[in-house]
Amino acid sequence: MARQILPTSLGQLGLRPRSLCQRPLDTKRAFATASRRPGVLLSVELPEMSLSEQPHYVNYIAEQLKEYGILKVNLGFPDRNSRCLQQLLFGFHKHHGHRLPIAHSASCGWFWDIRPTAVTFQSPSYQARSETMEQFPWHTDCSYEEQPPRYFALQVLQPDRRGGGTFSLLGVGRLGTVLSPMTKAALMRPEYQIETPPEFIKDPTRRSLVGSVLEIGEGGPSDILMRYREDIVTPLSEEAAGALNDLRDILRNESIISKMVLRLSSADMPEGSILLVDNRRWLHSRTHVQDPMRHLRRVRWDAVPFRSFT
Ligand SMILES: [Fe+2]
Repeated sequence: MARQILPTSLGQLGLRPRSLCQRPLDTKRAFATASRRPGVLLSVELPEMSLSEQPHYVNYIAEQLKEYGILKVNLGFPDRNSRCLQQLLFGFHKHHGHRLPIAHSASCGWFWDIRPTAVTFQSPSYQARSETMEQFPWHTDCSYEEQPPRYFALQVLQPDRRGGGTFSLLGVGRLGTVLSPMTKAALMRPEYQIETPPEFIKDPTRRSLVGSVLEIGEGGPSDILMRYREDIVTPLSEEAAGALNDLRDILRNESIISKMVLRLSSADMPEGSILLVDNRRWLHSRTHVQDPMRHLRRVRWDAVPFRSFT
């Protein structure tokens, strides 16, 4: 399957994110091109706001996201209010059955601003990791939720001008090829306790869940889905602990991981870029932010139970 022929570092490949669709209306031609070049981060132009409401354009984006699990859209116009992204999400909901995002709060709505801040936090009592300049190790978003979002998107409003905040992606299907069958089987058993980080506790009586780290997706045994954030997972059996250690060792082994990782620098994701990601088929990480004015906007949607295919 195309999404398992995963990209490596664009720099190592000598490739840059490229536009497959200079003329977005020519979706047949663009799709054919995309199918022949599965190792390249797909990059699609959106020259006019109105296109984000047109079903054929929405369908094209949704199909590429389903096929590859990752897609970049380049806006050809300023959109500080993320209207375009809103229109795409309404389109995914209307034509492709994606569930709409859940509002973070009455003031923030669907969107969460990711920028370093020392004064005002978007959570009432705690500072979320996204509100710091810290690096994030490999994880999927909302792994502590019974229904983690299937997708998230990041819109770049201000790139890091000092070379920090590099976003990296690691395909779960490819990661699965370097895990032993025994390790994968153990990670698929519901023998892990996953704690909710304090800043995301909604119900004080529900602070953790018990479940698996991996599951099989609708594409069959090679379609592996994942939920993972190392600092909140506790194994509940000896086998589960061994498998978790195997996974951690591989994720820390740069000589293995570097061949599979797609790294997106600020140059790869300039202002006006939107990255759409399948949150169960790609792990992501971030280096330290260097520019205090770096500003991304995030939205997550289509929250469904993790074990929805078994
Ligand atoms: Fe994240």
